[in-house]
Amino acid sequence: MIVMYHVECIECSKGFDKGDVIYTCDECGGLLVVKYDLSKIELRREDLDGVPLSVWKYRALIPVEISPVTIKEGGTPLYKCDRLAESIGVKELYVKHEGMNPTGSFKDRGMTVGVSKALELGMNAVACASTGNTSASLAAYASKAKIPAVVLLPAGKVALGKVAQALMHGAKVIGVKGNFDDSLRLVREFCAQEKFYLLNSINPYRLEGQKTIGFEIADQLGWESPDRVILPVGNAGNITAIFKGFLEFKELGIIDSTPKMTGIQAEGSSPIVDAFNSGDRDIIPKKSPETIATAIRIGDPVNAVKALAAIYDSGGLAESVTDDEIVRAQKDLARLEGIGVEPASATSIAGLRKLVNSGKIDIDEKIVCITTGHLLKDPEEVVDICGEPIEVEADIEAVRRAVFG
Ligand code: F0G
Repeated sequence: MIVMYHVECIECSKGFDKGDVIYTCDECGGLLVVKYDLSKIELRREDLDGVPLSVWKYRALIPVEISPVTIKEGGTPLYKCDRLAESIGVKELYVKHEGMNPTGSFKDRGMTVGVSKALELGMNAVACASTGNTSASLAAYASKAKIPAVVLLPAGKVALGKVAQALMHGAKVIGVKGNFDDSLRLVREFCAQEKFYLLNSINPYRLEGQKTIGFEIADQLGWESPDRVILPVGNAGNITAIFKGFLEFKELGIIDSTPKMTGIQAEGSSPIVDAFNSGDRDIIPKKSPETIATAIRIGDPVNAVKALAAIYDSGGLAESVTDDEIVRAQKDLARLEGIGVEPASATSIAGLRKLVNSGKIDIDEKIVCITTGHLLKDPEEVVDICGEPIEVEADIEAVRRAVFG
């Protein structure tokens, strides 16, 4: 399959060869982006109608030419959440549950593309730093591709389910005594020295997989863009990727408008929100990020410049939420809608509630919140906030007492 694209720097527009193994511009250090000559790509609604949802449904806009490494990612449910909408006070609310991907997070969309790209480039080993989900996903796709994976995690700060996945899929799992930003610095250095392909979201190909969240939302809404998309922001790749997906669909004439991209961070790990509140296009990194939502415990997001551009260009917002607001939203999703998510994912709902309460979001908007990871990723946090189960003797009266008090 031939896909018409090229890679260029977002700062100085320097172009790179398709065969280059490169993550940032070698002239100015800028982030890279994959671009398509959309005037030469024929893709219409009719070509997509009736085709089952998956990342590879949109292959004409994915820069991979070999047969992909896939474990059937994408095609996640878009739930209409009327009880949650009523509780928050908005008219039309949907939740796109990315926790329903093969390894339980949206990272699988990026990894099916990123690991395929590694093979296409002749790179037969992969690595990443991670707050957990990226490592779980990379480990699974590397094993499917029969290549080794190395993952660097902030020691003691990654949810148990994610560590379990990375170990079980056979990655070399290394705990770094430091935070995520330290792990990312180290893995970038390691990949510059060794023949390991770096699959953090600084890699522009990974974002090409993640942009399919935008494609799918439009597809599931009957070729319409919602008014607003709200999602958690950590290393800031996903918000960038999803907006890119909507922009490409608009340029192709598949949809008529794009949503206001609204990024939510946890208080204590919110450099992008701080930059947005000051009207800046770049961040001041936070030294010691802290939050219950360990997936987004990041002080120096590598894609900050791209993410802020997506927020400003789309007319969106950035907001931060407290750990208590995150826990409330996590329970609301679970108990009003039956949707089980990890804490980071619940920031999208917590952020929506806060922005509605402060009057920054119009209650008539059609809103999609993205929940990025599954509840079972972080069972320890659940026990912390919900408590242990009640234990009783193996006796019917004891059961009755436990049920009826
Ligand atoms: N939600 C979850 C569940 C995540 O795991 C992440 C990022 C995000 C949101 C934020 O996405 O980085 O694109 O802004 N997790 C990364 C990881 C950092 O290593 O798993 P982002």
